Amino acid sequence: MNELSPSLVSAGAIDAFRLSSEGMIEIINAFHREMHRGLSGKRSSLAMLPTFVDSPTGKERGVFLALDLGGSIFRVLMVYLPGNGRKPRVIIEKYNLRATESKRKRGYDYTQGSANELFAAIARYIKIFLTKHAKRIKKFGYKKPYPLGFTFSFSLKQTAIDQAILKKPSKGFRLSGLANKDVVQFLRRAISAQGLNDLVEVVSLNNDTVGTLVTGAHRDADCDIGGIVGTGTNFCYREMVENIRTLTGKQKARYGKKTMIINIESGNFNEINQNAYDKLLDRNSTNRGEHITEKMVSGLYLGELTRLLLLDLIRKGLLFQGQLTKGQVDKLSRKGGFPTPLMTKMAEDDSDMLKGVHTQLLQWGIKEKHIRLEDKKIIKQICLVVPRRAARITACVVFAIVTHVDKQVKRDHTVAIDGSLFEKYPAFKEDMRRAIKEVSLGIFRDDRSGRISLKLTPDGSGIGAAIIAGGSSKQIKK
Ligand code: BGC
Repeated sequence: MNELSPSLVSAGAIDAFRLSSEGMIEIINAFHREMHRGLSGKRSSLAMLPTFVDSPTGKERGVFLALDLGGSIFRVLMVYLPGNGRKPRVIIEKYNLRATESKRKRGYDYTQGSANELFAAIARYIKIFLTKHAKRIKKFGYKKPYPLGFTFSFSLKQTAIDQAILKKPSKGFRLSGLANKDVVQFLRRAISAQGLNDLVEVVSLNNDTVGTLVTGAHRDADCDIGGIVGTGTNFCYREMVENIRTLTGKQKARYGKKTMIINIESGNFNEINQNAYDKLLDRNSTNRGEHITEKMVSGLYLGELTRLLLLDLIRKGLLFQGQLTKGQVDKLSRKGGFPTPLMTKMAEDDSDMLKGVHTQLLQWGIKEKHIRLEDKKIIKQICLVVPRRAARITACVVFAIVTHVDKQVKRDHTVAIDGSLFEKYPAFKEDMRRAIKEVSLGIFRDDRSGRISLKLTPDGSGIGAAIIAGGSSKQIKK
């Protein structure tokens, strides 16, 4: 099952997705260099953005609203923090922002419109949420307005906890009218227009990785790194303020603490060699030349990368015995026609005759008569190697951050990770674990991977926004 047909190997298709131990160590070294350059304000593919947030104290208490925006699903949460580090209670609702028009359902894709429309929709969803859960929220017994923490998962130039300018949207979002404007002001205006000023007060804004780190650190003192492996990817970590040269003296004084979380924007790291499929995918993307690592790693792109590779093999006659008709091949040429869950389902099929792969291929539009076991074996391998490279790159990012803060890996580090790909495809975490061990052996000649634990932190970004809001406002009991 693990052996590949020689023609495929010689076609270099699979090799294009291999990442060796040496290759990983090179990535780690380059990542370190870019981190240093970014921190000192030099040109770097790593933005190293100050966030004005530190780890939580565990004393945050009250009832907080949180918004989580940045993937295809938008979440509104009400989080009750009992204080004393006890577990939060959460009410959560999900709304789809990418409800594009179809015959059955008339919707609107808010990820492609104007910022005004998007924020107006967000405020409407807040109203719907508050009306639906009014009774439960009242029971928590805190006074209105409820402080709101906003997770906005894009590259943001933040100048204070509640002030940020969007640098450029990623993950296929367009959002016109937002360039160089304060995102928090947009949200405040939309909330006001919905007549919600008495109910809601926006107090903080954060990146999703930061929310995830804060959620992890709320209950685990070793948690100093947070990350997302979902629609997009990115990591953040705690840095000494004295090392952040991009902060002004005034900002440092106003912030007043010794450590601050840095949003690395690791998805934009651009020192990894792209293969032909990576380059093609980038050329067809909405943010060409940017977020190069994200395009090799995250859920929005892995299915598409796999599709480009499969299509290439089909066109070269290396799959389905070269017997697909032109019409069929054209059908498979549709961008986005091979979503990531299709790929992970095939990768997870362990049945002898690869029945799962079979079903997914039919779903993709391949005809029954063209599917042979040999093809299915090859396709399964492809569906394994594409996310495996993603996991190995993510392992490099994690290892580089750990060794940036703790050169010899002497302490324990918990890495809180949220995101659909990490959550729903368990092999991702296993591949990461293996790769972390591999680079540890390569660099230190001994295995220090036991000091790095990767912790799934579901809804971390939303809950973290509430904890951050909790740190920025004092709530009053009724
Ligand atoms: C954004 C990051 C975000 C990541 C994960 C990237 O495209 O630039 O800010 O953390 O996606 O959502």
